[in-house]
Amino acid sequence: MKRIDKIILDDWHPLIPSNSVRECSIVPSRLLGEDLILWKDGSGVNIWQDLCIHRGSRLSLGWIENNHVVCAYHGWEYDRTGQCVRFPAHPDQRPPEKAHVKVYESTEKYGLVWASLGKPEREPPKFEEWNDSSFRKILCGPYYYKASATRAIENFLDVAHFPYVHEGLLGDRRRPEINDYEVEVSEEGIVAKNVRVWQPDPDGTGIGKDVVYTYKVLRPFTAYLRKETHEGVLAIFATVTPVDEFNSTAWLYLAMNYAFEKNEDELRSFQDKITSQDIPVVESQRPERLPLDLQAELHLRSDRIAIAYRKWLKSMGLSFGTI
Ligand code: FES
Ligand code: FE
Repeated sequence: MKRIDKIILDDWHPLIPSNSVRECSIVPSRLLGEDLILWKDGSGVNIWQDLCIHRGSRLSLGWIENNHVVCAYHGWEYDRTGQCVRFPAHPDQRPPEKAHVKVYESTEKYGLVWASLGKPEREPPKFEEWNDSSFRKILCGPYYYKASATRAIENFLDVAHFPYVHEGLLGDRRRPEINDYEVEVSEEGIVAKNVRVWQPDPDGTGIGKDVVYTYKVLRPFTAYLRKETHEGVLAIFATVTPVDEFNSTAWLYLAMNYAFEKNEDELRSFQDKITSQDIPVVESQRPERLPLDLQAELHLRSDRIAIAYRKWLKSMGLSFGTI
């Protein structure tokens, strides 16, 4: 694999819902091509490289004992800092400082565990509605894509596919026109406003309506949309785990301030259906890496946000998941 951009290494990436990591168990994961383990102790979730420094076996084959991770091969024990504290074959020998696994940064936010493989200088991306109690939040996913995170995010930003990929739900083939809308790029990311679409069932409630969207790109692999109707606001915070260059996992947080009578499972299964329609199309895209050279594919006015996304990634020199 090619070298990973610092901007991606230093960023936070979601891995798993916090409640999937239980004390006394080791959860394997993978981020940016690196195999990881997650395990929990009293002070939070620890994220380590999935590699015992003795003979390179996977720590995910091991177990937790007395708040130590025990390697399944020769029983080396590591404390919560990643320091080896016991060689069972030589109980009187004190392990040297360099007997230390690779430890990564970890934080919990929005009910998810986030990891950084570098030195994070800022918080995970902001989910505006998270602290607004008038919105209920529903986590959907994980959705697995055999595709790059860049392709998955660009699909999330694309409205012109609604009448074709989501016919009858998010679009109508008799009404495929996309209005001109405004896109602004700043250091914070990208904002597209006044994207208008008529939708037969925009939010799983079964009622057709004209919908105005605002889209934001907050980080290379995190985007957001907000759509307003007379009933209320639906926001979606979409964050994608870049598992490696060609595999990604999407997490969608819905925030809704209406339709409280609908149960969560119904709303979640609507998103499951929409995403299951997207996945085969996104996985089919070639080249697999998103082309940042605007001459490489054809663009229309309705692709304005995708153009802005590609330019923005190019301006930060992103090479991961791009060509
Ligand atoms: Fe882990 Fe030997 S490989 S203890
Ligand atoms: Fe879609």
